[in-house]
Amino acid sequence: MSPRGREPDLGERLLFREAFTIAERAYAPYSGFRVGAVAVGPSGRSHHGVNVENASYPVGVCAERAALAAMVVFGERRARYVAVAAADGVDLLPCGMCLQAMAEFGEPEVVARLDGGLRVFGLAELLPAPFAGSGGASAGGEAAGAGRAAGTGGTGAHEAGAGGPGGGEATGCGRAGHDG
Ligand code: THU
Repeated sequence: MSPRGREPDLGERLLFREAFTIAERAYAPYSGFRVGAVAVGPSGRSHHGVNVENASYPVGVCAERAALAAMVVFGERRARYVAVAAADGVDLLPCGMCLQAMAEFGEPEVVARLDGGLRVFGLAELLPAPFAGSGGASAGGEAAGAGRAAGTGGTGAHEAGAGGPGGGEATGCGRAGHDG
């Protein structure tokens, strides 16, 4: 079943607008598909990401994961929102890899364009069963999100301190809703 989401409020619309604006800065010479993303943690501050491609295609990183990385660099490990927009204005939902990356950092709401309109989705609607790992929170570790999603006792809110188990390698991400 396709996700439905809900209507965005004004702040959520502005967040999407911000993602749309920064999509211009994407480095996407191979696909020509420029994407911008904004991750928002507990501070309310916007952390920006764009897709950054590479001549060796799988090395490229999606905008959403770039935004999450920026959030972590800032010192936040819980995402309240991830807004994502394509520079050319087409519909776009995050790829599965990016949804899994979001699950690492809590259960953000995803602001994105679907069927020509802006919608807000709970992460669980887009990724009902994230991988939670064999360690992480269940092993008393510091996982901020996926462990919690699996009911393993993580707090879901670690804003400082040592790193969790989430890796940052970039791998290929499928295109969505774009041809040509
Ligand atoms: N891309 C993103 O940055 N985010 C998405 O949600 C989907 C796809 C990027 C990856 C690649 O650089 C380009 O869009 C085409 O797939």
